[in-house]
Amino acid sequence: MEVKKVQVKSMNFSEELNKRTSYIEDVIRKFLINENDYRNDRQIQIYEAMNYSVLAGGKRLRPMLVLETSRLFGGNDKDVDPFMAAIEMIHTYSLVHDDLPAMDNDEYRRGRKTTHAVYGEAMGILTGDALLNYSFETALKGTLETENKENALKALCILANKAGVFGMIGGQVVDIKNNGSAIDLDTLDYINELKTGALIEASMMMGAVLAGADENETKVIEQAASYIGQAFQIQDDILDVTSTSEVLGKPVLSDEKNNKSTYVSLLGIEKASLKVNELTNKAIEMIKSLNYENEFLFELIDSLIYRKK
Ligand code: IPE
Ligand code: IPE
Ligand code: MG
Ligand code: MG
Ligand code: MG
Repeated sequence: MEVKKVQVKSMNFSEELNKRTSYIEDVIRKFLINENDYRNDRQIQIYEAMNYSVLAGGKRLRPMLVLETSRLFGGNDKDVDPFMAAIEMIHTYSLVHDDLPAMDNDEYRRGRKTTHAVYGEAMGILTGDALLNYSFETALKGTLETENKENALKALCILANKAGVFGMIGGQVVDIKNNGSAIDLDTLDYINELKTGALIEASMMMGAVLAGADENETKVIEQAASYIGQAFQIQDDILDVTSTSEVLGKPVLSDEKNNKSTYVSLLGIEKASLKVNELTNKAIEMIKSLNYENEFLFELIDSLIYRKK
């Protein structure tokens, strides 16, 4: 069975993508601690390590989903700035901890040595902690400053819930507990929904509520985002066996090294690819059913099917 992926893109998608990525880079930088302003602090190294991990690049998918989902519902870009920075800090913290020797034990991330490889394991742990805390400080300050406090509080609540034990952390727990054991598809879906789906859900739901989406619309976005997140993780697992560390900026065959069951190990690459397609198309259909327009968002979600990194 051959999987045919026909890529239809409007002329300027990659130009529009670059524009947004550099806008998001500026926003993230603005909210991070400028280490040069705190040169005399004894804990200077933690600011350096936070910036080392966050400013290493990365696709910035989650902040982009915050922004574009807010735009889908006609939201104001300024309201989402602190939340874009906050979700990228939490995502980066999850990666810093995911790479630790006690977890996936990986040495490369975003094209450079992992944070713990450069600063030591203790600082790796503290850098993750610091980013998690600073994420909430950033989102809370944004909430205090915005006129739309009610919506910002809803976004904060979503962020806390989806990053925690009912979300990303919960997924990482089940993932780690099952290292080395053969799991069924149901357990794998559970892991993917939480460890990766939850932060994608948080991104899109925050964009929605900040723009004033109602409860029903936010529920639809949550389910669509869950599909997008699951597809994203399955594609990550595919790239783990089909790509190179140069392209990915992180090691390949990490899952095999840790004896992890994935869609690829359970079903093979072709069936895994079909699943990515199916989940993504379901998500796009659901969002389109809300009858709002954001062509870039639809193309962005679609482009994840074909992503190479
Ligand atoms: C990697 O996320 C971890 C997963 C959830 C698969 P990304 O692939 O979005 O990593 P960056 O942010 O681009 O480095
Ligand atoms: C990690 O999944 C998801 C997180 C919550 C960090 P992976 O362990 O597959 O992510 P990579 O491949 O290291 O980026
Ligand atoms: Mg992992
Ligand atoms: Mg990993
Ligand atoms: Mg992976």
